[in-house]
Amino acid sequence: MRTAVYPGSFDPITLGHLDIIHRSRAVADRLIVAIMANPRKNTLFSAEERVAQVRKAVAGMKHVQVRTFDGLLVNFAKHVSADVIIRGLRAMSDFEYEFQMSLMNRRLRPESETVLLISAEPWTYLSSSAIKEIVKFGGSVKGLVTPYVEDELRRKFRDGHDFHLST
Ligand code: PNS
Repeated sequence: MRTAVYPGSFDPITLGHLDIIHRSRAVADRLIVAIMANPRKNTLFSAEERVAQVRKAVAGMKHVQVRTFDGLLVNFAKHVSADVIIRGLRAMSDFEYEFQMSLMNRRLRPESETVLLISAEPWTYLSSSAIKEIVKFGGSVKGLVTPYVEDELRRKFRDGHDFHLST
């Protein structure tokens, strides 16, 4: 039984993230989507909101669990007995950051192996920040996020949330 963690901010989860969650079946029997509760960047959604969005998106996927974590990812991986860390790669531009992070995580915990999964083509230009920007300025993100996340985004910006996109 191989357990993997799929860490991220998920602010919000997109269909690109869901694609990686589906693909993770090739390398893991059990996947823990690990939502960083307090990432460096300001998030639009609270940890509780992001957990609810991810839980709804993965409902019915028996091999997937959703948790939050704080602090070092490798400590969380150890805590949940995960020997694989999954990250998605959309384009070469993602590579340098992922490469650096995986080597640092390896140094911190050699038992955790990072596996980079390649996104399906329709999601290569998709990012959570682009999603937030589009909704903030009144554009449609239909087909890029789940309907629940779409509603949540609209609610957030309708409520006048002052979100600084540069963060
Ligand atoms: O979706 P993101 O924002 O690209 O995810 C980044 C994340 C949360 C995976 C990364 O920042 C992380 O693992 N943070 C935890 C702190 C940590 O372990 N840092 C050392 C790795 S270089």
